[in-house]
Amino acid sequence: MRLNKYIAHSGVASRRKADELIAAGKVNVNGAVASLGCDVNEGDIVEVSGRIINPEKKTVYYMLNKPVGYITSVRDDRDRRTVIDLLPDVKERIYPVGRLDYNTSGLLILTNDGDLANRLMHPSGKVKKTYIAEVKGMFHISDAEKLRNGVDIGDSRKTAPADVEIIKQNNSTSEVEIKIIEGRNRQVRRMFEAVGHEVISLNRTAYGNLKLGHLKLGQFKKLSQGEIEYLKSL
Ligand code: URA
Repeated sequence: MRLNKYIAHSGVASRRKADELIAAGKVNVNGAVASLGCDVNEGDIVEVSGRIINPEKKTVYYMLNKPVGYITSVRDDRDRRTVIDLLPDVKERIYPVGRLDYNTSGLLILTNDGDLANRLMHPSGKVKKTYIAEVKGMFHISDAEKLRNGVDIGDSRKTAPADVEIIKQNNSTSEVEIKIIEGRNRQVRRMFEAVGHEVISLNRTAYGNLKLGHLKLGQFKKLSQGEIEYLKSL
């Protein structure tokens, strides 16, 4: 098997990142610095940055309904609870595809398939993500129109066009469904702030065509073969 594939299958990095590690001289095979494009055979010892790695036997794919109060990371320096803590029986070294804020709940994909995760997280991938936001104040049609057209959230360019539907409106709070294709840091919160509405709560209900459905908060499920194929087709 190609060395970069072996590294990707061990959950350490995507194939592309593995090539970077190899090129940087951080990968050893049987004690010798490996070169790009080399193969590994049964019984070879592969080390990345001095740590022996083993390829996972199978790739696994999960959907989690993340509750508020968990960080989307494999580990945390400040010892906060991570989303991985919510899948205690999963033996494979899975990691989240993209990020939900500590205060955001909802649909999160986790996998040990480094190539797929990397592809889905790449900025050129335009997966539509659906969120329900509860926001402060009366959210007007004119606010929706601004978000649909893209707003300035303090980055070098304004946000890409979004789908926006008002679900409920009143003087104190409103509920809005928003679908975005980008994944900038705290993007939905910053978009609502840009039109004068602070987000009170935020929930991701869909990732592309994948929906949370009846999955309860804090629960997870294995993706079906159809769902996995759908993700690979994106
Ligand atoms: N946008 C946000 O502001 N937060 C999230 O967690 C996801 C999208």
